[in-house]
Amino acid sequence: MLKRLSSNSNFSKGLWKILNQRNMSTSKLDASKLQVTRVSQKSQPKPNDQLVFGKTFTDHMLSIEWTMEKGWDAPVIKPYGPITLDPASCVFHYAFELFEGLKAYRTKDGKITMFRPDKNMERMNKSAARICLPTFDSDELIKLIGKLIEEDKHLVPEGQGYSLYIRPTMIGTTDGLGVGYPDRALLYVITSPVGPYYKTGFKAVKLLATDFATRAWPGGVGDKKLGANYAPCILPQLQAADKGYQQNLWLFGPEKNITEVGTMNVFFVFKDSKTGKKELVTAPLDGTILEGVTRDSVLSLARERLDPKEWEVNERYYTIYEVSERSKKGELVEAFGSGTAAVVSPIKEIGWQDEDIQVPLLPGEQSGELTKDVANWIAAIQYGKEVHGNWSRVVADVN
Ligand code: COI
Repeated sequence: MLKRLSSNSNFSKGLWKILNQRNMSTSKLDASKLQVTRVSQKSQPKPNDQLVFGKTFTDHMLSIEWTMEKGWDAPVIKPYGPITLDPASCVFHYAFELFEGLKAYRTKDGKITMFRPDKNMERMNKSAARICLPTFDSDELIKLIGKLIEEDKHLVPEGQGYSLYIRPTMIGTTDGLGVGYPDRALLYVITSPVGPYYKTGFKAVKLLATDFATRAWPGGVGDKKLGANYAPCILPQLQAADKGYQQNLWLFGPEKNITEVGTMNVFFVFKDSKTGKKELVTAPLDGTILEGVTRDSVLSLARERLDPKEWEVNERYYTIYEVSERSKKGELVEAFGSGTAAVVSPIKEIGWQDEDIQVPLLPGEQSGELTKDVANWIAAIQYGKEVHGNWSRVVADVN
């Protein structure tokens, strides 16, 4: 990762030296140094119907301290519990915080697997480099997360739609109010047994096309998973909720380009009424769009599995005006969001100015046809019914 930064002409030699020395001359993250302290009594799993997203946590957490002087300390797995920090810690004042979201699944053959953890680690390192927090060896953190899951494997829920949500987090812990780069950090990982992300369960959602606030902009950090990207979106989300919509559909610029949804990337399906050809479209990764792992999986599977005689799969700019016009022409076929937490979430309606754009669903169902297919393709891989390259990584045996 840091190699990529070195080739970026925006980084002078002096700046490069500061960023580089944090990783080169000090201890590397090393999973073999793990120390484990276990809870005295394991907790019992909750029934699936009592799981509220991100409200229940497992018995243990992973915690690793970093200092600029020494590098990464020995990783520790310990009972889940509060963190004590100085009130002047830079995380509280200047938002030195980033996180990831990935999931582990219980497969039919009694294994626990993680889905594409390498992609999350790659993105986590990019987020860390962007806010001057330390980077780390992805494989070492994947091994450590595997050990954490192994400790709490009895709490990984069973059944399609249920999984263990994994939340790696990194914060700057340098105390002092001067604004500068952190020389201390804490990387920790907590895990939470989960079902559907939305309170409405596995139902199609309503979005409010939002141009009264902006989530991300060119030259900003919209493609990084920083906590600071989320807090400013809550007020617009409440404004959307007040009008009866679950999430914002973020628009950008005078063109009103569609970018993404509150906690998901977004896809639309159009059908050209003259040629009959269908198009699956999502916004391009131009630095304002979160580089979603589910987004990438949807695009890969669609490009592999959809017949190119009937389909085009495009990453291109498109606007709310196009969606509105094509809906009027009967060319809007379906739409869905994709994300780790929300997986594949069908969309049924988009509020825009004075109209409510109705997104077609299959008769009597909560989803469009491609949305259903894509959700099934991904679930088959995640729940171990199908192997797709190295997308699933076994971390524990349940039996
Ligand atoms: C995810 O999908 O993992 C997210 O990070 C979305 C959200 C829960 C913040």
